[in-house]
Amino acid sequence: MCGIVGYLGQKEAQPLLLSGLRRLEYRGYDSSGIAILDKGQLGVVKRKGRISELELALQKQGLPGKIGVSHTRWATHGIPSDANAHPHLDQSHRLAIVHNGVIENYQLLKQRLSDSGHHFESETDTEVLAHLIGEAYDLLPPQDPQRLENAVRSALTEVIGTYGIAVIHADCPNLLVGARRGSPLILGIGNGEFFLSSDVTAVSGQAQRVVYLSDGDIVAIRPDGFDISSLTRPRVGFEISEVEKTEAEAELGGYPHYMLKEIFDQPEAIRNAMRGRLDLEEATAKLGGLNMNPHQLLRIQRIVIVGCGTARHAGIVGEYLIESLAHLPVEVDYASEFRYRNAPLDGETVVFAVSQSGETADTLAAVREAKRKGMRVLGICNQVGSTIARETEGGVYMHAGPEIGVAATKSFTSQVLVFLLLAVLLGRLRYLSARQGKKLIEAIEKLPDQVTSVLSRHKEIRAIAEKYADAEAMLFLGRQFQYGIALEGALKMKEITYIRAEGHPAAELKHGVIALVDERIPSIFLCPQDGVYDKNVSNIAEVKARRGPVIAIASEGDDRIGKLADDVFLIPQCSELLAPILTVVPLQLLAYYTALSLGRDIDKPRNLAKSVTVE
Ligand code: F6R
Repeated sequence: MCGIVGYLGQKEAQPLLLSGLRRLEYRGYDSSGIAILDKGQLGVVKRKGRISELELALQKQGLPGKIGVSHTRWATHGIPSDANAHPHLDQSHRLAIVHNGVIENYQLLKQRLSDSGHHFESETDTEVLAHLIGEAYDLLPPQDPQRLENAVRSALTEVIGTYGIAVIHADCPNLLVGARRGSPLILGIGNGEFFLSSDVTAVSGQAQRVVYLSDGDIVAIRPDGFDISSLTRPRVGFEISEVEKTEAEAELGGYPHYMLKEIFDQPEAIRNAMRGRLDLEEATAKLGGLNMNPHQLLRIQRIVIVGCGTARHAGIVGEYLIESLAHLPVEVDYASEFRYRNAPLDGETVVFAVSQSGETADTLAAVREAKRKGMRVLGICNQVGSTIARETEGGVYMHAGPEIGVAATKSFTSQVLVFLLLAVLLGRLRYLSARQGKKLIEAIEKLPDQVTSVLSRHKEIRAIAEKYADAEAMLFLGRQFQYGIALEGALKMKEITYIRAEGHPAAELKHGVIALVDERIPSIFLCPQDGVYDKNVSNIAEVKARRGPVIAIASEGDDRIGKLADDVFLIPQCSELLAPILTVVPLQLLAYYTALSLGRDIDKPRNLAKSVTVE
């Protein structure tokens, strides 16, 4: 949510900042801006709208200089407008700041500053922060060699809320200052150049090494190096990691949209998620990153899974998988609810935090809350080095590669696969026989090819999507292992098409949902061959009896379903435990092609952003 990029080096900053912003556009896309220092002058250009608007403005009025900050916005305080776009300036107009996060006490601070003569040009909390730092700067002696970083430090002690910031000042032509609390910020290190960014993908290809800054860190970057301190301590330790080469993967590769590319990435993504983790000989899965030996794994009495949106849906599928294979009680919660609940947790409970970005504010807060209560917290993340990955005791990386489309696709199937591996591992330590484990491992190995076969029939889904694109609303219905898929199918549909879509357990139809059914509202039933197939068939009949159109996602060889449903898509036959990975793919395609028919902005749907780093 909001992306920031800062640069200090020997090259012209503008093209590097713009290229970084383009890669961060998925984090927010209602306005953007850039500020560059040159010969003691601060140049600022900002525009409402997509980054292309900013690029157009910069073609007319370029900004020379080798140090600058930039921002792509997802509005929190104040509507999208040129004035509310970042960077924001202080009272003297000599300091520029870009900010990702929320300053909760900004109104109080704004009042105090206004009372002492400060004038504000925007409605944002960030401009208040700019003035606060500017005020602190003016109060410090000019001979202070660390005047700007000390001003940042002093202003931040007054702030309640979250921030990832980058700051420059016209008095300091060779200094870029960054700080973070609650919002991500990384320091990218290249050859004689440095970057600050919300996300390492913005600097991959430019920076070879990276420092993942920790909460409370303040970094001061000068041409000859950098210094990391904290709000309270003069110097703090840090680790430098190599930047993973993700650049090529983040390109569109000939696809019209990232979402479609990422849907088609799934065979490879799930292959990567299982690579080196299947042990056919022991008929189990290996998840060394959990940092738990078999005795510790056996002591687990209960699992709590927390996440948001799609990640929580993967957790729901995980719940059914773990309960089924390992007979362990599992509870799945919205991270945003969990963080404020007084959930009873005991020493034998393990909490799993699921997050593609590893930066979602609510999930991170849930991690911290569970840790505060002494729980072992493990992460299931995609983004290597992300805050959740670093703050958990261990976990499993999905290795899905960068996911740029705002609608999560390949991260979902990778998350479900990780839960499948976890369920096999926990199951084999409990009730699952070697024979059952081996059968499952062999079936899991076939999944990438089965997903490829589903994808190869994308035209069938496209035809169904075009047929129902003018639907008023849609219902997604599934039971047991397919319940989480019904929720996920509905989420995909609503977020990129804006069609009202609801996901429910199919049996809930009769308890109210069926009142919605009529000829304009199609119901999408997830009914592969499984233990509840006949129940689904009865529910389909109930919908048909009320003239509701039915789209069925069923298994190859099913010769009953075609007589009941209006449209059918068949997935390869597989165990009911694995079917969620296959049934979700046609639902992703259904949402994609429906959005395409409706002319929606698929990779950047309205009001959304990829990484939700505010509460
Ligand atoms: C939906 C979607 C969101 C995210 C949610 C959590 O397509 O992308 O619902 O799943 O914001 O994000 P992460 O997984 O990054 O914590």
